[in-house]
Amino acid sequence: MSNDTNRRDFLGMSFAAVAAVGGAASLVGMKQAWDPLPSVLAAGSTVVDLKNAEPGKPSMATWRGKPIFILKKTADMPKDGRDLVIGSDHFTLVIGLCTHLGCIPAWKKTKWKCACHGGEFDSSGRNIFGPPPRPFDIPPFKVEGTVVTLGAETGPEYEKMIKA
Ligand code: FES
Repeated sequence: MSNDTNRRDFLGMSFAAVAAVGGAASLVGMKQAWDPLPSVLAAGSTVVDLKNAEPGKPSMATWRGKPIFILKKTADMPKDGRDLVIGSDHFTLVIGLCTHLGCIPAWKKTKWKCACHGGEFDSSGRNIFGPPPRPFDIPPFKVEGTVVTLGAETGPEYEKMIKA
């Protein structure tokens, strides 16, 4: 009787151990299946090198189908807490969609103007005139040296900018 009980206990514990290992292996497999592939993560990123940016001349990149405005500020452009600061250079780095209804504003000498309803944004991307209710949005990014990677991860510069 005692031997039967011990054998039954042993079988029960063995079954539980096999089930636990199998369950853990299944969870690991499911997580690997759900996580996006590195190629998918890379496809959602845009890499921009700011090394050769010309002061006062905005450029445009595309991230996940959205326009990204990048402006290296001139010395006389106002500095802002939303600037990306690399060394002594200040950059505006924003999603170039009007925060009113989503048109793409155009750069006009010192500010972005939205042709749809007349909204205006200053060189820092802040709304200064018309119906836009808030500044341009800032895309998630991280920066290494002068290289900005949009989309994959966020770095401390991004965290600081979105709080400004
Ligand atoms: Fe730009 Fe309305 S969409 S002002």
